[in-house]
Amino acid sequence: MPTYENPVFKAATTEKDKDLAMQVRIIVFVDEQKYTLESETDDEYNDKSDVWLALCDRILDDGTIESGVPVGTVRLIAASETVGKLGRLAVISDARGLSLGKKLVQLVIHDAADRGMDSIIIHAQYDKQGFYEKLGFVVEKGDEETFLEDGTPHLRMWHRGVGTKQ
Ligand SMILES: CC(C)(COP(=O)(O)OP(=O)(O)OC[C@H]1O[C@@H](n2cnc3c(N)ncnc32)[C@H](O)[C@@H]1OP(=O)(O)O)[C@@H](O)C(=O)NCCC(=O)NCCS
Repeated sequence: MPTYENPVFKAATTEKDKDLAMQVRIIVFVDEQKYTLESETDDEYNDKSDVWLALCDRILDDGTIESGVPVGTVRLIAASETVGKLGRLAVISDARGLSLGKKLVQLVIHDAADRGMDSIIIHAQYDKQGFYEKLGFVVEKGDEETFLEDGTPHLRMWHRGVGTKQ
């Protein structure tokens, strides 16, 4: 199994980096989680969101090093001047557990704070609740029920007081 080193995080502002972020989304959400390809490629927010990309060096079993492999992505949609919606967080399966997902979410939180937003909302896959709770997101009163999004159970979670807590 390959290992991953030297993570680099960047805003995906060029078409090339946006394509790399989309590649990660397709590997994770389409190939692994079996959402439709169209749910990624035809999403209305693809051109209306800010996207981040995580790249790592990949060390293969035979010692070969591949530099700058796209391994993670996340995006932020400005729902209003004060509320951001974090979504499409994905880390490829064999690069998980290295804090890349955590770092991507923290980048979004810092960016939202810099823009003057005070809250971030997510529609979290139900089994990711614990991951987001570690990053300051909570299920608020009245939002305890899961709802189906693209056929899978999700929970609404909020990170309030952006910029005042982590
Ligand atoms: C969810 C996901 C992004 C996490 O990425 P990751 O890089 O493996 O996570 P990290 O290594 O940054 O984990 C940070 C912490 O969350 C914990 N964690 C990770 N996944 C978790 C989960 N499903 N439930 C509870 N805690 C979790 C880790 O143990 C770690 O805890 P620690 O800081 O106490 O050591 C990754 O599993 C993924 O891409 N999954 C498939 C796509 C997906 O479900 N995206 C989210 C849609 S809402």
